[in-house]
Amino acid sequence: MASPSILVVDDDIVAAELLSEVLTKEGYSVTVSTSGTEAVRAGEASFFDIVITDLKMPEFSGIDVLDAFKRMSPQTIVFVITAFGSFETAINAIQNGAYDYMVKPFKIDEIKTKVKRCIEQHRVIRSEQLAHHPPEDLTFKAIIGSSPKMLEVYKTVAMVASSDAPVLIMGESGTGKELIARALHEKSPRSGMPYVVVNCATFPENLLESELFGHVKGAFTNALMDKRGLFEEADGGTCFLDEIGDMPISLQVKLLRVLQTNEIRRIGGTASSFINVRFVAATNKHLPSMVRSKEFREDLFYRLNVITINLPPLRDHLDDIPLLAEHFFRKAVAKSKKDVRCISKEAMDVLASYNWPGNIRQLENTIERAIALTNNKALLVSDIPAEVLKRAEPPSPGPDFPTLADVKIEYIEKVLRHTNGNQKLAAEILGVDRKTLYRLLKNR
Ligand SMILES: Nc1ncnc2c1ncn2[C@@H]1O[C@H](COP(=O)(O)OP(=O)(O)OP(=O)(O)O)[C@@H](O)[C@H]1O
Ligand SMILES: [Mg+2]
Repeated sequence: MASPSILVVDDDIVAAELLSEVLTKEGYSVTVSTSGTEAVRAGEASFFDIVITDLKMPEFSGIDVLDAFKRMSPQTIVFVITAFGSFETAINAIQNGAYDYMVKPFKIDEIKTKVKRCIEQHRVIRSEQLAHHPPEDLTFKAIIGSSPKMLEVYKTVAMVASSDAPVLIMGESGTGKELIARALHEKSPRSGMPYVVVNCATFPENLLESELFGHVKGAFTNALMDKRGLFEEADGGTCFLDEIGDMPISLQVKLLRVLQTNEIRRIGGTASSFINVRFVAATNKHLPSMVRSKEFREDLFYRLNVITINLPPLRDHLDDIPLLAEHFFRKAVAKSKKDVRCISKEAMDVLASYNWPGNIRQLENTIERAIALTNNKALLVSDIPAEVLKRAEPPSPGPDFPTLADVKIEYIEKVLRHTNGNQKLAAEILGVDRKTLYRLLKNR
């Protein structure tokens, strides 16, 4: 799948280059324009998923850029950046259709998160592209695990995929809820139809309603034209309501009505229409307690909870770690193009005894980072970040004594950990020359 494209517009060349560098590192394909007119020319020449424009520029301002893109490329999402003092203008930008604004100086992480969320929310477009390359994506998004707990999950997915009843997926953060939701769609008779993802946590309340239901022209100040909602976009397919626990209570009533009647009405509209959508919802919150504390409607909970899939935390299926780790290892090695051959047994033991509060996502990130940083031919204990090492229980002593070779390697790894992977220093401590150390590491 092509990486999302971003156009950065700022007359301050240094600022533009800096932002471009950060976003390129995140994997986006970034183009820079140093004036509004240049930006419009770029937009005429190619499509951009996102435009990030400075507001105050000579001649052609950020608002002009915004207007131009609204006209020539309504699909493009425009972020406006503004310096202190022009906050009002930024609000004005939003009312003119900018997706978001940021005040300078903004934090790098803030812009990264915003762009990422924005891309996630606009999965609709990307899921259409996806439909054209299903095999590639399926292998990329393979669901790994063969523990009894995961097999139970697969069984439920297989049993309920062809039904139209709502499914509620519950599980801690990083347990694979999104992956399972997608699998439910792909394994269903609706797989050729749209798969629409809505993250209920990232929109402010009023925006979420108009995203979901759409609106008619003039329904509110910046409703400049009729707009289809995501429920309509999902017609015939599946709508995945992610982070449903964060849906505002007022919208919960409206969603319940849709689930009961399949009927929707755009905001400000008079006519209603019927949709044929399969709903899948997910949350990492504990909905039953939210029902008790009246933060989540009981009637909606029961309606969504016709079929429940509980994803186990990774610490409850540690036996899947070798398979998962190998899978992420292969993916990370392919991505880094490094010659790392395997995960050492000691390193695997450490991975398999940690309690992984961030679940499968944390395991994936840990391996990816380790591969990116290592200079070794195998992923060693010394490549594993300190927090994982610290909390991993010591591997239980087996009944057999380790061989001398095992002890030797273990000792070398210990020294390497001590030197933070510095092989030159490690060789000095071990009293061998560097070549010998290389050979020892290679022959494990
Ligand atoms: N069984 C699995 N096999 C392979 N990869 C997995 C598996 N489960 C999760 N992953 C990967 O782990 C990461 C996190 O998964 P996902 O986004 O589905 O989690 P989530 O439960 O939706 O988390 P959150 O509640 O934080 O949104 C993703 O990159 C996903 O591909
Ligand atoms: Mg998720």
